[in-house]
Amino acid sequence: MSELLSLDAIRGPVVTAFDSIDCKYQLVNLGYLEDEKLELVHQILQRKGLKSGKRRPPIINHGYFVRVRTVQQYLLNFCNQFTEKRQFIFLGSGFETTPLQLSQRKENFIVEVDFSEVMYTKKEMYSNSSFANNLDLHCFSHWNEIADTTFRRDNHLLIGKDLNDTSTSLIETLINYGIRPDIPTTIVSECVLVYLDGSSIIQLIEQFSARFDTISWLTYDMVNLNDGFGKTMLKNINASGIDLPGFVSYPTMQSQIERFLHHGWASAVGQTMLTTYQNLSEEEKHRINQIEKLDEWEEWNLLLDHYSFVLATKNIINLSL
Ligand SMILES: C[S@@+](CC[C@H](N)C(=O)[O-])C[C@H]1O[C@@H](n2cnc3c(N)ncnc32)[C@H](O)[C@@H]1O
Repeated sequence: MSELLSLDAIRGPVVTAFDSIDCKYQLVNLGYLEDEKLELVHQILQRKGLKSGKRRPPIINHGYFVRVRTVQQYLLNFCNQFTEKRQFIFLGSGFETTPLQLSQRKENFIVEVDFSEVMYTKKEMYSNSSFANNLDLHCFSHWNEIADTTFRRDNHLLIGKDLNDTSTSLIETLINYGIRPDIPTTIVSECVLVYLDGSSIIQLIEQFSARFDTISWLTYDMVNLNDGFGKTMLKNINASGIDLPGFVSYPTMQSQIERFLHHGWASAVGQTMLTTYQNLSEEEKHRINQIEKLDEWEEWNLLLDHYSFVLATKNIINLSL
């Protein structure tokens, strides 16, 4: 199915790809971050009908900032550890611009996987001449459709696939398209596994550890479903028509750590966003507080206690959160 996404028709988890990019755009708009690519992606999505401009409270913007900063820092650490060939697999990448950023280095091979509508829209956007002109992307060749909603350009692959459809193995597909299990690889799934079925998550976790020699996986997901705040979070998301089977199957950080340890990974550690925030430098905390003052501390602590990062590794040491 090669179809441009119709913004009026989208439902279910695909909606979250738009919410996420809109929240990240607000960070750029307000001065928390600089990201020229993200601004352009957002502009193009607005032309396609993305409704933007919703003002979000400082705790949401600060939270998104901590999330984005942590993923960026992690990727930098991975790149510093593996300076030659390396592979990056973004599961549920949505409209993220980090993969495009990484694809500009020849030593990197990038794979993005999301629903076919999202990947098709992304390929159209990356092919847009004003996008390419603005970002000086002329060094790249054209995108080729190498299979149904699977596109390749040089060192960058976009795969349109429902990650809950396990009838074909993602790992075998990746290997067929040139991903090498012997090259250091990292997977990033930023707020994605909660949308997948427990059995699909385990299949991915098992297959990546079984096939890849040197691999790490950074996940960011909701946690602590069992308390009042967690239950309300789930109820509100369900009320918007979105199910979170992965959150129900793995409701705590410990269970999200154990799903790696019990399925072939040598190590897995976790950190709630509250700890991640506390680990930011005082200068960084001060800077973002100057942009928007954080004063709802009780709500902030509660919110950050319900999101966490988990880092799992196999044959990698010295990579931490
Ligand atoms: C909350 S968004 C996060 C997007 C991106 N990782 C980010 O942080 O901006 C969740 C993403 O997971 C994707 N997703 C959810 N369920 C999926 C599935 N079954 N197969 C493929 N992608 C899925 C959605 O389309 C969306 O892009």
